[in-house]
Order: sequence, then structure tokens, then C-alpha cells
Amino acid sequence: MIIRTRKNSDIPSSEITPESAYINRRKFLGASAGIGAAAFLSRDAAASPLSTLHQDDEPNTWDEITTHNNFYEFGLDKKDPSRNAHTLVTKPWTVKVDGLCKKPGDYQLEDFIKPSTIEDRVYRFRCVEAWSMVIPWRGFPLADVINRAEPDSSAKYVAFATLWDPDQMPERRWKPRIGWPYREGLRLDEAMHPLSLLVNGLYGKELPNQNGAPLRVIVPWKYGFKSIKSIVRMTFTEDEPPTTWATQTPGEYGFYSNVNPDVSHPRWSQATEKRIDGSKFFGYRRIDTHFLNGYADEVAHLYEGMDLQKYF
Ligand code: MTE
Repeated sequence: MIIRTRKNSDIPSSEITPESAYINRRKFLGASAGIGAAAFLSRDAAASPLSTLHQDDEPNTWDEITTHNNFYEFGLDKKDPSRNAHTLVTKPWTVKVDGLCKKPGDYQLEDFIKPSTIEDRVYRFRCVEAWSMVIPWRGFPLADVINRAEPDSSAKYVAFATLWDPDQMPERRWKPRIGWPYREGLRLDEAMHPLSLLVNGLYGKELPNQNGAPLRVIVPWKYGFKSIKSIVRMTFTEDEPPTTWATQTPGEYGFYSNVNPDVSHPRWSQATEKRIDGSKFFGYRRIDTHFLNGYADEVAHLYEGMDLQKYF
């Protein structure tokens, strides 16, 4: 795994990689460097995706990533978040850290991010609904803020909550069905894994509201609903925390929700996925889904001895 970084404060805006450079570089690598080539998609080596892309993992366009979203607080249609999320007020923003840790606190977003080194990482993103994209995120390791909070030895999980403010979030039809706020959680070792990110940017720019501004979680080997948006709270717990979809529909969605082509959703197969690629007729191509979304070499050890059919 290759991770090169530099401090966010060192990145002049003139060096922010344009979308076209990511895509062109990807094409170049695909053509010349072959399978598994280190995916240095950005113009300078300082910004640094991990080397875990597959040959045909071309980054999706800004337009695709920001107009095909799930953010139910803003509506049920894939286009609703891009239409409606402008009402979300992201400045100022506070993140509360609490629960079983030595350094709880309420942090202004800037102070929360500042001690970390910002990185660009291109990850596959696989929704449980069987569509997928390749996304150049900008963010920093979730492990950073966990280490700073100094969890107690009894802390085994970290729970996250999204802001819930019906005045800013126009989707009210779902209120009786979903117990807002949207909640997610990870086992502490999953959250500490170097692939787990807190994300505040996309294509080197500020994260758009519809993608979970100003700060979201990205866990690339799990179905997309684990990657909770617009977080306002992180809580360390001893017990597995309740999460929105696993509480809502326990027969369909589990706490772990690791991408697994062998475990079907009760209503559809997970063996393949629609990779959104703007192609002429359907706008996607059908590809095989990989165990742990293709990140098994990095994360399979987290689940040694666990029956992943049972803990889905
Ligand atoms: N976070 C919140 N707060 N609300 C949501 O509805 N949807 C989840 C996840 N995080 C969701 C959320 C689902 S189902 C998916 S697939 C991803 O966000 C979508 O992320 P994207 O819109 O950036 O592609």
C-alpha cells in the first residue's frame, strides 16, 4: 500500500488536480501500465491515491458523483440530494466526540481537521443497491481522530450520527419510518484501519452537500450505506451500536455489511454490479462484484474466524 501525503495547509489551490487530469492519467495508466498499476492519478506525486485500483477502475466524473446520490434526508430520488441539499448549512459545524474515551469534546470542524494530513484517495464505492462508482475523495484517516480521543480499553465500537434538522432537510415523508438522525457504526479495529477515512473533499474541491458535506465517513470495503454523511457526533461504546438500516430492516441489512458477492440481498443478487460509466445506452456496464469490494488483501484479516454469511 502506497500512501504519500502532505499537510493540507501546504496545498496551494493552483495545484488542486482538475477532474480531467485524474481521468486522463487513469486512461494513460490503464493503457500503458497494466493491471494493478499504482494509481497515481493526480498531477503531482504529493496527492496520493492508494494503489488498489483495478485496470478498468476509471474515476467517475464530477457530474456522475454529484447527481446520483443517496441522502434520504433530502429525498428518495437519486437526483433529490443534488436538487435539495443546498439548504444544508455547513458553516459553522461542530463535531461532538463522547462516550468511552479520555478526551471527549465539542470541536469546531476546522479544529477537528487541522491536526491531520489531508490526502487524496481514489476508492471504489459499492452501494447495496448494486450500483458502483470510482471516486477521488479528499480526507484523512479516521484513525487520527480516534487516537486523539484516546478511547478507553472498554471501547469496542464507534457510533456516528448525522445532523437531523427538519428545517434544513426537506424530506419529511420518511420521518415515521426512519428514526432520524441517520446512524452508523464500526467496530473500533475497522474504524482504525488505514483505508477508513473522514472525507471533506472530492476531486480536490470542497465536498458538495449532496455527498455529505462538510464531513463524512468512507469505508470502501463495505456497502455504501455504512459511509455516513454530514456527521455531527462520534461516540465510543462497548456494545454494538444501533444503526439506521440494520434497525429498520434487520432481515435485509446487517451491522457489518461487508461487500460480498456470495451473500445475496433477500430481494436481489450481489454477484454483479452496475458500474456507472456514462455509456451510451444504459449509462453503466455490468461487472463482477469482488469480495470486500476488491480490498480483501487489506482488510480480510479483520474478519478471520467470523462467519461472514451470518455476520453480513
Ligand atoms: N448518510 C446519511 N446521513 N443519509 C443517507 O441517506 N445514504 C447512504 C450513505 N450515507 C445516506 C448516508 C447510502 S445508502 C449510500 S449508497 C451513500 O451514502 C451514498 O453516497 P453518495 O451519495 O456520496 O454516493
